[in-house]
Amino acid sequence: MLRFSTAGESHGESLVALISGLPAGVPVDQEFLDHELWRRQQGYGRGGRMRIERDTAHILSGVRHGKTIGSPVAMTLANRDWKNWEEILPVGEGDAEKHKAVASPRPGHADLAGALKYDFKDARYILERASARESAARVACGAVAKLLLRALGIEVASHVIRVGSAELSREASFAEIAALAQREEVLLACVDPESEARMKAEVDNALRTGDTIGGVFEVVVHGLPPGVGTHVNWDERIDGLLAQAVMSLQAVKAVELGRGVTAAQSPGSKVHDAIAYEAEPVPEDAGKFTRFTREHNNAGGIEGGISNGEDLVVRGYLKPISTLRRPLASVSFETRETTKAAYERSDVCVVPAAGVAAEAMVALTVARLVIEKFGGDSLRELHRNFSSYCEQIRAF
Ligand SMILES: Cc1cc2nc3c(=O)[nH]c(=O)nc-3n(C[C@H](O)[C@H](O)[C@H](O)COP(=O)(O)O)c2cc1C
Repeated sequence: MLRFSTAGESHGESLVALISGLPAGVPVDQEFLDHELWRRQQGYGRGGRMRIERDTAHILSGVRHGKTIGSPVAMTLANRDWKNWEEILPVGEGDAEKHKAVASPRPGHADLAGALKYDFKDARYILERASARESAARVACGAVAKLLLRALGIEVASHVIRVGSAELSREASFAEIAALAQREEVLLACVDPESEARMKAEVDNALRTGDTIGGVFEVVVHGLPPGVGTHVNWDERIDGLLAQAVMSLQAVKAVELGRGVTAAQSPGSKVHDAIAYEAEPVPEDAGKFTRFTREHNNAGGIEGGISNGEDLVVRGYLKPISTLRRPLASVSFETRETTKAAYERSDVCVVPAAGVAAEAMVALTVARLVIEKFGGDSLRELHRNFSSYCEQIRAF
């Protein structure tokens, strides 16, 4: 089974990423991993930290001569800021005078609930792990999952469809969305320049007023055959697994599959994707899996917890960043008096970066299900099983 886990804190020495259950023979391209990490650090509205960090995945195990060898892949991602925190957050006892307390919990963060739960008199140790810095380790694992999927012709990409009240005003093709990953400047990762300018104005307004802003990203998986995930058990449904994977990202407060939200307001005749059948057999290189076709994809590529061969479409709704330059009211842990919530250097808008982290979570989820369905200890074996299944459904 494909599994991954992360360790590390926001201002600790480094993040740790561990992914196991990969077949042998998956090409691992260091440049690709680092480019994915770079993408997570970009976007208009990021804070000062992104200027001092330039993440790179240091691979310790599981990859030799550029390919996986079947053993767990362990990676570290150094926190470049560590030198400034080494004495503030030492592993050993250190000097208590140097501790940098977070003295008043920030609404919207884990600060208060975490301090109560773990019995800390300030929120420092809570925010260190609750911070979305952790998502960098997920992106490193997700990049490896993406390379596995790519070897089977499956691609994962994301774009931003809303920032505050500014919305993408047209449909986007998968090619357009995938091309965003090659941009030299990410800005707001929107395929339409006019919509992106409106999104940028929303961020500018938040910057000007000391506020923050959320939005919606969309992750699309292209090239996934029908039949991944299953209706037979609740915890094996691909929709449920994707929802958990994306919802687990920091600041994501709702997940939508396909047109899930508008579907709830529309009659069935306008929602469900009618089925047609092509007269001609499907050639192997046609980029289609079966002769059954759909005119649209409101279902977002999933019916009954099973992929249906259309593009998988997963949206994540992001609350605005919780750390405000003009902080909300809070209470001092020490005096119990009303005060302002703590402020620490912070992002103002992270929708494109959250999209990149969600690509990783979606890739890891899909890769897990693909490995479960097709099996194989080497990429060659997995590929053979995958191709044989594709041939079977083409001939259906
Ligand atoms: C990529 C990314 C970067 C983030 N950067 C910040 C930040 O700089 N400051 C902040 O207060 N919250 C930031 N957040 C949001 C917090 O992590 C989030 O609000 C916090 O974890 C509480 O949300 P939760 O209840 O969903 O965990 C970021 C989120 C993401 C996905």
